[in-house]
Amino acid sequence: MTRVLIAFGSKRGGTAGLSTMIGDALARSGCEVTVSPADQIHDLAGFDAVVVAGALYANRWHRDARRFVRRHDVELRRLPVWMVSSGPLDDSAAHRDIEPTRQVQKLIAVVGARGHETFGGRLLPDATGFPASAMAKTKAGDWRDAAHVHRWAATVVAQLSAAGTWPA
Ligand SMILES: Cc1cc2nc3c(=O)[nH]c(=O)nc-3n(C[C@H](O)[C@H](O)[C@H](O)COP(=O)(O)O)c2cc1C
Repeated sequence: MTRVLIAFGSKRGGTAGLSTMIGDALARSGCEVTVSPADQIHDLAGFDAVVVAGALYANRWHRDARRFVRRHDVELRRLPVWMVSSGPLDDSAAHRDIEPTRQVQKLIAVVGARGHETFGGRLLPDATGFPASAMAKTKAGDWRDAAHVHRWAATVVAQLSAAGTWPA
């Protein structure tokens, strides 16, 4: 069975939940999935593929996702890797391809990631901290789209399959 790690950097839980949605979609396709905060992964042994998901704040990917890629760059170069950004507080990501930020583009190049996808984000109405609380007055909502996740997960499975990583 193909063993997929989904390592995430999340400040307010939205990207953690998105990672679980991705994990559930991949598990339904027959992958063995581990979903974990990126800072809790110390070893990639035993994984056949990796998805790194990071929340975007002011165009910067969550620090835990960035550090994960830097810390494991040698191992990640040898594995099929996809990167995920989360995400716009509207439905734009479900309708068009949103390019990775420059910072994420650099990390994609560092490990030779197979692909990148931007998914809609989530901001709760009672978000604390500035400027999140101010933004929440007008931008609160959950734009994580299950259909978008399923479409994208199917493309990952197809690429793993084409690469011979699937089914193991
Ligand atoms: C202060 C602030 C800045 C944000 N900046 C961006 C941004 O630059 N690009 C983007 O797509 N989304 C941006 N967002 C939306 C977040 O990425 C979205 O809420 C995401 O789901 C947060 O993930 P988390 O709950 O895992 O922390 C921002 C949200 C806040 C509160």
